[in-house]
Amino acid sequence: MTNKKTAVYPGTFDPITLGHLDIIKRSAILFDKLIIGIAENSQKSPLFSANDRVDMIKYELDKLYTKNIVVKSFNGLLVEFVKKESAHIIIRGLRAVADFEYEFQMSFVNKTLENKIETVFLPATENVHFISSTFVKEVTKLGGNTKKLVSQNVQKLLIEKFKNV
Ligand code: PNS
Repeated sequence: MTNKKTAVYPGTFDPITLGHLDIIKRSAILFDKLIIGIAENSQKSPLFSANDRVDMIKYELDKLYTKNIVVKSFNGLLVEFVKKESAHIIIRGLRAVADFEYEFQMSFVNKTLENKIETVFLPATENVHFISSTFVKEVTKLGGNTKKLVSQNVQKLLIEKFKNV
């Protein structure tokens, strides 16, 4: 095992929000390498394809000066992906108390599957506390403005997407 700390930040990212970006920026400072793991076939039946979600995140990362972040998609169990990437840490952002039970259960299941992998929770920053991809899609679908929730590029892609569904 090396001293370099690699962490995986997994999620559906359908689409990536300003809340996700906040967790990404802060994790990239805490760890030597950060792998953003996009769950390809999430149970949430994503609106955007896995490739689109990868491209969307890469576009956002180009605007950051951090060079220690990579984006990958995965299928199957998260812990298997984490092991394959030689990482031992899973990052999850915690928004409201409502997130806690689901997140706690997920970390417990992952710990049961792979004892060596630890989940680290980062509290969401105040101004992006209540953003969720689900609300972002709903607001767009109903014609609302998502300017304070997602980047300009994601906003544009969402509008295009809803024109075609
Ligand atoms: O951002 P999300 O949608 O809350 O992320 C959930 C995700 C993708 C991290 C979670 O569903 C996941 O890890 N899926 C991979 C399948 C898996 O390992 N399931 C067992 C852990 S609950």
